[in-house]
Amino acid sequence: MPASTSFRLLETEADGALERARSLSPDETIAVVERSGLRGRGGAGFPLAQKLRATRTAATLAGAAYVVANAYDADPDSPLSRTLLERKPDLVIDGLAIAAHVVGAEQCYLYLHPEATRARSCAEAALSRRIESLQEAGTRVAIALGPGGFMGGEESALLAVLENKRAMARQRPPWPAEQGIALRPTLVSSAETLAALPPIVRDGPEAFRVAGTAGSRGTKLVSVTGAVASPAVYEVAFGSTLGEVIQAAGGVTTALKGIHVGGPTGGILNATRTGVRLDYEELKAAGTHLGSGQVRAIPEGVCIVNEAARLFSYLARETCAICVPCRVGTKRVGGILESITSGLGRESDLPWLAELADHLNEFSLCGFGITSASIIRTTMSEFPDDYRTHIVEGRCPTGTCTPVRARRYETMAQP
Ligand SMILES: Cc1cc2nc3c(=O)[nH]c(=O)nc-3n(C[C@H](O)[C@H](O)[C@H](O)COP(=O)(O)O)c2cc1C
Ligand code: SF4
Repeated sequence: MPASTSFRLLETEADGALERARSLSPDETIAVVERSGLRGRGGAGFPLAQKLRATRTAATLAGAAYVVANAYDADPDSPLSRTLLERKPDLVIDGLAIAAHVVGAEQCYLYLHPEATRARSCAEAALSRRIESLQEAGTRVAIALGPGGFMGGEESALLAVLENKRAMARQRPPWPAEQGIALRPTLVSSAETLAALPPIVRDGPEAFRVAGTAGSRGTKLVSVTGAVASPAVYEVAFGSTLGEVIQAAGGVTTALKGIHVGGPTGGILNATRTGVRLDYEELKAAGTHLGSGQVRAIPEGVCIVNEAARLFSYLARETCAICVPCRVGTKRVGGILESITSGLGRESDLPWLAELADHLNEFSLCGFGITSASIIRTTMSEFPDDYRTHIVEGRCPTGTCTPVRARRYETMAQP
């Protein structure tokens, strides 16, 4: 692990944590979680203590609540929850049970991708091992399978799936903590976030600290992919630099051109940005986000405009299509990027792309559209020469793009 650490999730046991949680009042447990500084690992970094408190308060009025561990792994190249469930399933199950105890929920769901068969077997074995302690705590845990596809992991789409509807996002507020499954208060947290609860509750908030790091607390599972020696899932300290994260995977195998951080909606940073730290605020300031926890090393010789076009072609297929800025925006951005890689780009495409990024970011209904703007913004600001060579010189800077359009993608709305 890059920074010197004292806490490692993948080396932690769950033993004794649920009993300890049951000896504390919900408010005492929330106070311990608050002092630990635990923030959501699913991307947005919302403090777990605040979510627990909001769900508990709403549940007191509603009389019932649910807890969902989001172990879906929407990004197929970032199997973080699967890794966690295959290696430490008891941490996720007991984390769910502790959260259920705090918010007063009887029914919990472990929400998985339909293809995560091995993780599912490990979770089922852990549930059998834990059956007595779960019964004593009055908690039922059911395994629920998502639909497949990227949007199946978004929290409001996930709630729709648990109500037997299509994986489409909902307007918020009301937040799931107030109105989730069947309009009941529902805590939706990433499996990785909930897995940190047992050690924090059992050993106290200090146990969660990682020595030598500032800012966000604890560790983060990351999927290091692309041009690295050993692509895999690693546990790194929050606050590690992107360079250290890549080093954890054995370092780059060839000259680095860019670092794609956050998965399918994440921004691509220039290779010079290896000093940026894995931290919610620092990644945001750099133009990207933690997202799916994927850090992809992009080698020299790759055309970044083509990378952006490829990502938008994926997003245009995966959008749930319920809101116009994203349904239309992902298609338009993809079309413009394809025009550019096909040698049909114009200077006026750049402000048009920037405007579409603003629309996606400001008016989309869920994180999918909101964060996808970072792909447009970072590729244009960090790799202006790739765009310029395509548009001004009419050639691919790396000689790798092949035309996919015979005519420009244009709409009546284009300036
Ligand atoms: C398109 C999309 C896919 C997502 N997929 C996942 C996922 O697979 N796992 C996850 O924990 N969060 C995922 N999220 C984030 C969830 O919406 C939600 O914020 C998270 O589960 C909350 O947990 P946390 O507070 O512990 O981070 C996704 C978000 C979006 C926009
Ligand atoms: S931003 Fe995209 S994925 Fe999210 S609700 Fe709108 S259409 Fe659906």
